[in-house]
Amino acid sequence: MSENHVWLITGANRGIGLELVKQLLQSPSNTVIAGCRSPSKAADLQGLAAQANGRLHLVALDVSSQESVTTAAVEVARIPSIAEKGIDYLVNNAGILPGGYDTAFGMDFSHLEQTFNTNVIGPARVAQAFVGLVEKSTKKTIVNISSTMGSIGSDPGAHGSSYAISKTALNMLTYKEAKEKSDITVISMCPGWLQTDLGGSSAPLHVSVGVEGIIKTVAGLTPSDSGKFFNMKGEIVPW
Ligand SMILES: NC(=O)c1ccc[n+]([C@@H]2O[C@H](COP(=O)([O-])OP(=O)(O)OC[C@H]3O[C@@H](n4cnc5c(N)ncnc54)[C@H](OP(=O)(O)O)[C@@H]3O)[C@@H](O)[C@H]2O)c1
Repeated sequence: MSENHVWLITGANRGIGLELVKQLLQSPSNTVIAGCRSPSKAADLQGLAAQANGRLHLVALDVSSQESVTTAAVEVARIPSIAEKGIDYLVNNAGILPGGYDTAFGMDFSHLEQTFNTNVIGPARVAQAFVGLVEKSTKKTIVNISSTMGSIGSDPGAHGSSYAISKTALNMLTYKEAKEKSDITVISMCPGWLQTDLGGSSAPLHVSVGVEGIIKTVAGLTPSDSGKFFNMKGEIVPW
């Protein structure tokens, strides 16, 4: 029999987050906490919860708000099974790209501030709030959903600057978290260019392909992978 695992996914209302919830629920060994800004308006998640036999919990979680994240952590810790077993996989997925194809010399700094608050401080504050539950679990893993756009070693070019800068900073957060706590496994993960609202319709891959790759790669992680940056094929991405 496979081990039971608890997953927490931020930004689960649509796109990659919603697809992660769908695919994880296909295995009866997974329990999923879906963080979203407005559970009462999250029709797709509500539909999944109605079929999930108690294996899907919806939690209000706005990663750009400290109050929201703190309240969510208290709420999740009150779920008896989670309080006992912790969170095996914390997936910091929520992210935004308000600046589009902006450039370093042309970007609107309000876009840089927004991306930093959601894409960098968001995952940092979620990790701080939930690390106690992660450390209680068997897998003790944090996955920061990043992008090769933030990989200087991949030479991503001039455009998408505010977003890319935020993902490069997120990668350093991964590194710092991995160095600070050797009992947990922390990675950055690029899901690939996927057809979502953020990825756009020109993206080459259906969201389900990238999410299959994320789940397969994450399920195969070992503690020696902590502090690394993977793509959805399980290959190392240069920082
Ligand atoms: N799609 C790609 O090609 C691609 C490539 C590389 C990396 N990524 C990364 O993958 C992650 C998910 O992207 P996606 O393509 O699924 O984007 P998406 O379709 O635009 O969905 C973004 C999700 O994040 C949520 N979100 C945004 N701000 C939030 C906040 N402050 N608090 C909580 N949730 C928030 C959104 O919630 P609402 O529905 O409430 O707005 C939505 O559920 C992001 O980190 C993105 O940078 C995507």
